Amino acid sequence: MDIRKLKKGEKVPLELLLLADPSRENIKEYITRGECFVATHEQKTVGVYVLLATRPMTVEIVNVAVIESEQGKGLGKQLVLDAMKVAKSNGYKNIEVGTGNSSVGQLALYQKCGFRIIGVDRDFFIRNYSEEIFENGIQCRDMVRLSQEL
Ligand code: COA
Repeated sequence: MDIRKLKKGEKVPLELLLLADPSRENIKEYITRGECFVATHEQKTVGVYVLLATRPMTVEIVNVAVIESEQGKGLGKQLVLDAMKVAKSNGYKNIEVGTGNSSVGQLALYQKCGFRIIGVDRDFFIRNYSEEIFENGIQCRDMVRLSQEL
C-alpha cells in the first residue's frame, strides 16, 4: 500500500470520506482547509485520512476511512500511524482525534496507536446531527476526544 498526499485539483475520494462522516457539508469545509492523504493499492484508492491544523502546534485527524472490503486487515492502523509520522515531520507537537461513544472499534484503534482520552463533548452528536445514530447497539451521543504528544 502506498500513502501519498492528494495533489491539487485531484478528485477527492468523497465516498470514502462519507464512511467516516455522514455530513457532506463538514467534509467540504475541512477538505479545503486541511490536507488529504490517500492510500492506494494496485491503482485503487483503498483508504484516506485528512489532517487539519486546529491550534498552534496541534493537528487533528478529522477523517480516516478504509473501503469496506479492506477493513479489518490493518490498513486503518497504518493510516493513523502515517498521519502521526507526517504530523511530526511537519513540526506539530500534538495530534488529536475525536470519535463517537458508540464507535467501539475506532476507540480501540486510536488507543492501540497511543492516543489517550482527554475529554468528552457530551451530546455533541445530538446537537450537530439531525438523525439519530446507532452503532454496536449503542446510541452515538457524545464525542470522545483523544490526543497524544508527537
Ligand atoms: N474491538 C477491539 N479492537 C478492535 C475493534 C474492536 N471492536 N475494531 C478494531 N480493532 C482493532 C484491531 O484489532 C486492530 O488492532 P491490532 O492492530 O492490534 O490487531 C486495530 O483496531 C486496527 O484495525 P485495522 O484493521 O487497522 O482497522 P481498519 O483497517 O478496519 O480501519 C477504520 C479502521 C475505522 C478506519 C475502518 O473500519 C473504517 O473505515 N470505518 C468506517 C469509517 C470510520 O468509522 N472512520 C473513523 C471515524 S472516527
